[in-house]
Amino acid sequence: MKKIGILTSGGDAPGMNACIRSAVRTALAAGIEPVGVLRGFSGLIRGEFTPLDRSVICNIIHRGGTILETSRSAEFETREGRSRAASMVRDAGIDGLVLIGGDGTFHGGTLFQEETGIEVAGVPATIDNDVYGTDYCVGFDSAINCALEAIDRIRDTALSHERLFFIEVMGRDTGFIALESGIAGGAEEVLIPEDPMSEWELISRLREYFRAGKRSAIVVVAEADNPGWSFRLSREVHEATGIDSRVCVLGHVQRGGSPTARDRVLGSMLGSSAVNALQDGSSGCVAGELHGDEVLTPMKETWMKKKSLDSHLVMLKNLLSEE
Ligand code: F6P
Repeated sequence: MKKIGILTSGGDAPGMNACIRSAVRTALAAGIEPVGVLRGFSGLIRGEFTPLDRSVICNIIHRGGTILETSRSAEFETREGRSRAASMVRDAGIDGLVLIGGDGTFHGGTLFQEETGIEVAGVPATIDNDVYGTDYCVGFDSAINCALEAIDRIRDTALSHERLFFIEVMGRDTGFIALESGIAGGAEEVLIPEDPMSEWELISRLREYFRAGKRSAIVVVAEADNPGWSFRLSREVHEATGIDSRVCVLGHVQRGGSPTARDRVLGSMLGSSAVNALQDGSSGCVAGELHGDEVLTPMKETWMKKKSLDSHLVMLKNLLSEE
């Protein structure tokens, strides 16, 4: 391996820059030339390469987003798009790629290696934390701490006005952010797709809380596949109970900002592991951390297998939200 490309793809996540920095430094230390690919798979298809030396990765570890920029490329989902990307990679003399992203990135990466023989290694980086093969994805810790800060702030105003609040957090299809920020924020209810609660049940529980003397409450809602659905929930609760509420959709605020220490360390560890995997001939894998150990998982498994929520945490959420 003489030259590797590094790209970030899908939703940006705090800690991606720490990961890029670590991959570059690991490559340089091994005598490998690192090259940046701009705008994820879209840039790969267009041959948008940029040199990555020590000066480029200076002073980026504390920055959110990704200096390489990112995209969700529909073109890379096609065989033609991947084949165009492969030509660009070969023309640039790149021997392997480090892919930093989520399950969509690894789906594309798996097909790319299978079809073209160009070696890839992945780093799981998504605030959703929904990549199989790692307990934590880069970006998740920053996102839950951002959500937690918002919950704490909203609790102040909820208490002052004796109000019910719905706080909607990100997490396409999954409730990782809602579960952990909801528990940490002491939410009265946490709605997640993995442990669904009917609207009728939510209404009757909220009615009970307020009947028993509660004057304010916080319901943390995972956006699931229906961003903005908390507004409907709020209306329905009002119609059924007369309880007035407010809605706060946190949205992309959770994706930006300086990464936490945990995300910087995780990004640094896994960025380095991915480069080592390419170098050791363990390509086609994603670097992760399971029970505190660094592991490599076949890239195919990371998007084909579904990562479950920690069942103890789900039980704990239910226990702690009961009155
Ligand atoms: O990257 C993950 C994520 O932030 C999800 O939580 C969210 O559903 C989605 O991306 C939003 O995507 P976009 O930024 O393309 O609207």
